[in-house]
Amino acid sequence: MKILAIETSCDETAAAVAHLTNDRIIIDSNIVASQIDIHQAFGGVVPEIAAREHVRQILPVIDQALHQAGLNRKTAGQKLSGLAITQGPGLMTSLLVGVETAKSLALTWNLPLIPVHHIIGHIAANFINRQLSTLEFPTLALTVSGGHTALVLMKNPLNYQIVGQTLDDAAGEAFDKAANLLQLGYPGGPKISASAQKFAQYNKETLIKLPKPMLRRTDYHFSFSGLKTALLYALRDDPHWQQKIDEYAYVFELSVAEVLVRKTIKAALDLKVKTVFLAGGVAANQQLRQILEQVLIKKLPTVKLLLPEMAYTTDNAAMIAAAGLIKLQAGQTAPVKTVLAQPNFPLPLTIAKN
Ligand code: KG4
Ligand code: ZN
Repeated sequence: MKILAIETSCDETAAAVAHLTNDRIIIDSNIVASQIDIHQAFGGVVPEIAAREHVRQILPVIDQALHQAGLNRKTAGQKLSGLAITQGPGLMTSLLVGVETAKSLALTWNLPLIPVHHIIGHIAANFINRQLSTLEFPTLALTVSGGHTALVLMKNPLNYQIVGQTLDDAAGEAFDKAANLLQLGYPGGPKISASAQKFAQYNKETLIKLPKPMLRRTDYHFSFSGLKTALLYALRDDPHWQQKIDEYAYVFELSVAEVLVRKTIKAALDLKVKTVFLAGGVAANQQLRQILEQVLIKKLPTVKLLLPEMAYTTDNAAMIAAAGLIKLQAGQTAPVKTVLAQPNFPLPLTIAKN
């Protein structure tokens, strides 16, 4: 079972070919055309510019993904079993380019179309190269990206339930805004991380204090806008902050990571899950990966931790292919005319009792 997947929900034009064999998802090609350089000048993604770039890049990116997988547009119809597409959530004008291209190709090649939720794609990044039958459910996925922060409970690979989410900014958004305050540039996550690492290399102690929001609450929700405001006030009140940028970056990164990890551990314990996944662009953060691993081993030694490979953390189409293969295997395809881009595409929200 081999499919092509397309992802254009934000500012990455991506296509990938993947197949399912012997209980494993194998990636044959994974092409990502990033627009970071273009949006950097604006300090964030400009939707209109992102859409124009997607239009320019989409066919070359698809051709390259097919080519690297030993296919081309002529053979795709016979060699593929389906076409997966990110249906949402995301920027409407970005999603439209991918969705309408995928629909045209599905009709041309006479292939079933598999609509994929972007967050489910991020989570499915953890399934790549792993023996699927060895995954132990229920699982809990901490999904952290520029647009989302959610704890997703899964009873099986096709059953998803949000048990906690951010009430305001997403974790990645918080990194981006903090980097802006610290004048580190865009995208904020990797910049904060590099800056924090410079501090951590030579120091272990700091006198700077930032809040760790929501830890006293018993639910699994997050809130990061107060932390960003606390950083704003700390910088305003510190005349020497520009000599301590790395230190502020370190404290900010640690605060975000600790809140994410402690809430995840609490939910994993209460909901008695067998596996914890990390997913989304912020899953590239080394500090977060390390703290989650250390705390999980200490507090829940029997729970397995799966971390996505770095190439599958920030937006890519390999993860959409992984989610698409699982849906295709279960027969979850959709008639072409019913698949519409969904900028606000909700996942079921269930507030778990504790
Ligand atoms: O998943 P993603 O590519 O796009 C969305 O679905 O939103 O995530 C992008 C987000 C950005 O906010 C970026 O700052 C953050 O992921 N990010 C990181 C790191 N690399 C990317 N955040 C923290 N540490 C990183 N190393
Ligand atoms: Zn994403």
